[in-house]
Amino acid sequence: MPASAPSDVEAQIDLAVDLLRRGQVVGLPTETVYGLAADATNEEAVGAIFAIKGRPLGHPLIVHLGGIDQLDQWAVDIPDCAYTLADRCWPGPLTLLLPRAAHVLDIVTGGRDTVGIRVPAHAVTQAVLSRFGRGLAAPSANRFGRVSPTTADHVRADLGADVAMVLDGGDCAVGVESTIIDCTTPVPQVLRPGGIAIEDLDDILCGNLHPTSTGPRRAPGMLASHYAPRCQVIVVPDAATAQVAASTDRRRSRVIGTDVGAADYARSLYSWLRAADHDGIEVVFAVQPAASGLGFAIRDRIARAATVAD
Ligand code: TXA
Ligand code: MG
Repeated sequence: MPASAPSDVEAQIDLAVDLLRRGQVVGLPTETVYGLAADATNEEAVGAIFAIKGRPLGHPLIVHLGGIDQLDQWAVDIPDCAYTLADRCWPGPLTLLLPRAAHVLDIVTGGRDTVGIRVPAHAVTQAVLSRFGRGLAAPSANRFGRVSPTTADHVRADLGADVAMVLDGGDCAVGVESTIIDCTTPVPQVLRPGGIAIEDLDDILCGNLHPTSTGPRRAPGMLASHYAPRCQVIVVPDAATAQVAASTDRRRSRVIGTDVGAADYARSLYSWLRAADHDGIEVVFAVQPAASGLGFAIRDRIARAATVAD
């Protein structure tokens, strides 16, 4: 952030909006993770996101909106189930995959016929979105394939030199990315478990939610190896196994996920993985949480962190 930046939050929000209007890329807080945001209608600005992140073109970005009232500016043929979910869950950690409106840039959708949309629930970014008035394309503000950021310091450490500004909104309350639901299939499908529980979404849809992705729309970017720290991550079934494994492993090790509820686990997971790297830890034993609620998202992320790319 430039040394001359005003310190007060309102002034920082104004500065962020001004930079976004001028086609700059800004780090923004959301309730899930920090995002790397640019004007979704500005092809060059969105292109800069890919360059900064080192993300291959063709990986689509989520469009963030200020409110549900803007939904029909970005998507067409919106099914009732999407309105039902949006009504109940926005602002919040839910992304809906919908048929794109014709004007949506190919660089945003990866050339697909769908667009991912969400209304984030963070007061600072809500203020940015309402003053900006348009959609913001934003992936998580980490380098491609690395651990997502849940504090402004994480963003500054990873990308600080490359972004016009990082708007500090404190620690992310949820800590894992949004749940993505594909609303283009006859029965909506979960593409990515995330910050809103699949059980809750299934209840809202009266049991009419498919818990996994079966179709060709499987989100690109959902690579097996993703969210990866430098240290090795080994998933273990319970705390006792983790302690035994850590005490017998000769490498510098650490255990995460013991004596913690799913909400705290989710909120802290990425900070713990980053801290392990920072502290020179070679292997992290991550205790598998129960397969319910936020546990699904945590299980998904630690499995991806544990997969070694070939
Ligand atoms: O919580 C979140 O969703 C955060 C915050 C910043 O909003 N964003 C986020 O963005 O996690 P990203 O780009 O790191 O992950 C978005 C995922 C990617 O796997 C992408 O491929 C998928 O959503 N996605 C987005 N639009 C899509 C589309 N049209 N079709 C299929 N997958 C899509
Ligand atoms: Mg990401």
